[in-house]
Amino acid sequence: MPGEKILIIDDEARVVEAIRAVLEDDGYVVMSASSGESALENLDRDLPDLVLLDIWLKGIDGLETLARIRETAPDLGVIMISGHGTIESAIKATRLGALNFIEKPLSLDKLLLEVRQAIKQTALERENRDLRKQVSQRHRIIGQGRSMQSILKRIEVAAPSNARVLISGESGTGKELVAREIHRSSNRSTRSFIEVNCAAIPEDLIESELFGHEKGAFTHAINRKRGKFELAHGGTLFLDEVGDMSLKTQAKVLRVLEEGRIERVGGHQCIPVDVRVIAASNKNLQHEIRENRFREDLFYRLNVIPIDLPPLRERSDDIPDLIRYFLDFFCSEYGKPLKTISTDAMKNLESYSWPGNIRELRNEVERLVIMTGSVEIGTDDLRPELSGMSGHSLSGLPSSGLNLRDARDQFERQYILQNLVKTGWNVTQCADILGIERSNLHRKMKQLGIPSSGDSRTNQIGGRARHVKRGSE
Ligand SMILES: Nc1ncnc2c1ncn2[C@@H]1O[C@H](COP(=O)(O)OP(=O)(O)OP(=O)(O)O)[C@@H](O)[C@H]1O
Ligand SMILES: [Mg+2]
Repeated sequence: MPGEKILIIDDEARVVEAIRAVLEDDGYVVMSASSGESALENLDRDLPDLVLLDIWLKGIDGLETLARIRETAPDLGVIMISGHGTIESAIKATRLGALNFIEKPLSLDKLLLEVRQAIKQTALERENRDLRKQVSQRHRIIGQGRSMQSILKRIEVAAPSNARVLISGESGTGKELVAREIHRSSNRSTRSFIEVNCAAIPEDLIESELFGHEKGAFTHAINRKRGKFELAHGGTLFLDEVGDMSLKTQAKVLRVLEEGRIERVGGHQCIPVDVRVIAASNKNLQHEIRENRFREDLFYRLNVIPIDLPPLRERSDDIPDLIRYFLDFFCSEYGKPLKTISTDAMKNLESYSWPGNIRELRNEVERLVIMTGSVEIGTDDLRPELSGMSGHSLSGLPSSGLNLRDARDQFERQYILQNLVKTGWNVTQCADILGIERSNLHRKMKQLGIPSSGDSRTNQIGGRARHVKRGSE
């Protein structure tokens, strides 16, 4: 693309001028240096888009110059030029990341083609890197609170292992985000992350979706199709809503996990697959096992590393960070100046129970960014159920349908949790705030199924007490 800067490093003035003429004619901006040393000195100040580097230079030679360029500008495109090129130096240059190798005497037409091609390639690579960065920014996991920090630690440890992970948590708590993060931090990150939503695929299609089919396997099988397991080969398969899979499909998935091979529907050939499976469910799978709706053997295969994401109301200490993150995100997305939030509005948002968890919070912040005219968001801008209730914690309770005892239990549980989070799970301090004895609080927590520390919940997949509550929430 014209206007791009090209640096020629060559000590033969005649060659430099010939190349300069042809490149400038094509609209490039040309800079030159007669030695590796002088080029490196200026590299920081004036970074070119591409370098043409002679291999045979006085002082440090081209290969050494290339190695040093890599230290300062690892992504800079470099084409090597030489009249004395040998296979060995070509190999060395390629290892050091040179894009190509052109021999002297130069064909200026060929050189021009190579330059255009290299500029295009480096621009694409840059764009790709930027997009990846944007995507990973978009998928950042926010949460400085204890429970989220301990989950992040778990992800860090689990990711590089090849172990299966089972993520549980209510809707909108970030199960998919966590699954993607595990894949991104694993050594499979350059391969595919394939997602299957087991709840969204009709029963008669799920096997073909997972294992593929051969042409003619059933009425609509016009062509051979590869299934998700095959597509995820070398990468990660995310079985979302795994609790919604039928028992028949569960049996087939179990076999694939045990044997590491699939058979397409209507096929007779076993195809080996190397797939890491991450599963997620917002159902309590242990309850599903008791009800004979989920296979216990499959559960244990999937549940090698359990990650249980607590609902947002149990980690309200993360709410301010999440709000600031989404404000920043949506303001830049909608091209608006960064908005702030008043202390009262923040308090209201912190004490709301967020039944839709982080998804609901994200949507609310997006709405606020679009709808609020002023720079500061105040309580009046909030949805009715969020405004004017600062200090209350009844927001999570349904307005009817619970008997008094269940309603009282839910309120007590939520209120205690809120104060535990506030005190960093310090039971003594929390008991002080609540005006009860420490031992009494311990007893209450046990009775209401509240773990004794914020962290322990992450080890408590399908924890009985919690899920008993979940059923009635
Ligand atoms: N800790 C977090 N930090 C930042 N964003 C988050 C976090 N957790 C969740 N989100 C965002 O909230 C939204 C919901 O998350 P996600 O889709 O991963 O939830 P889920 O548990 O898979 O929900 P469902 O069960 O409904 O499928 C997404 O936009 C996600 O990016
Ligand atoms: Mg999901």
